[in-house]
Amino acid sequence: LEQDNEYVLISEKPAWQLIEKWVQTNPLEIKRLFMEAAGFKQESPYELVDKRKTVTTKSLGLSYKEPIVMVSSLFQYMFNDKGNTYLDAYNNIPHVGHCHPKISQAITTQIRNLNTNTRYLYKSFTDYSEKLLNYFPPKLCKVFFVNSGSEANDLAVRMSRAFTNRNKIVILEHGYHGNTSLCVKISSYKFDGKGGKGLSGNIIKLPLPKKQAASIKRLHILKHIVKNFSSFKFLLVAKCV
Ligand SMILES: Cc1ncc(COP(=O)(O)O)c(C=O)c1O
Repeated sequence: LEQDNEYVLISEKPAWQLIEKWVQTNPLEIKRLFMEAAGFKQESPYELVDKRKTVTTKSLGLSYKEPIVMVSSLFQYMFNDKGNTYLDAYNNIPHVGHCHPKISQAITTQIRNLNTNTRYLYKSFTDYSEKLLNYFPPKLCKVFFVNSGSEANDLAVRMSRAFTNRNKIVILEHGYHGNTSLCVKISSYKFDGKGGKGLSGNIIKLPLPKKQAASIKRLHILKHIVKNFSSFKFLLVAKCV
């Protein structure tokens, strides 16, 4: 048959139309429609909210009045169960984007090979530390690996207290530094918020600069703090999830 034979080409037009429709339809929505058509019960967001209430406490708050059920994400995008795409400008700190293929691959390779703590010797620890330190000025010459921002901030406070032999900590109003006991004590967002226990001893809360005078005063205090911490030598690396 010739390439432009009418018999061969008769179904080409509807085929292209179908492909065009598929391209325009999110695969997650197609999956949902197939599941629905095949009689599989789809859990509504509200059913999921109710189930969530039975397995955890209300202290883990949900964002949005109409809760969004997220099913996957990639780079700067997140996708919900209905196949909608969201540009993520808010979700917690995924510096290189969601599910970055290089990061996912590196995590998979490592977890299948060796997953242990820093009490043992292994080459990747020193290799990675050296690589990281190359990005920092020579003064920042030691690395600690931690699991979260909270752990990094907690450790930073402990180290600075050990180094300075002082206990007082200066913080800014509205700040959030994490969810360990210590981080909550230095997070005005937490201790001044609903259910918060207020300012603890040894914590000094400064206002955010609202007027020029206030910001100049704050700058003086910050300059003093930076001067005192100028021989700080540690780089804290937090795993961001
Ligand atoms: C500014 C800031 N500091 C610290 C943290 C705590 O980090 P993590 O949730 O990894 O403990 C967060 C998390 O939202 C944060 O936004």
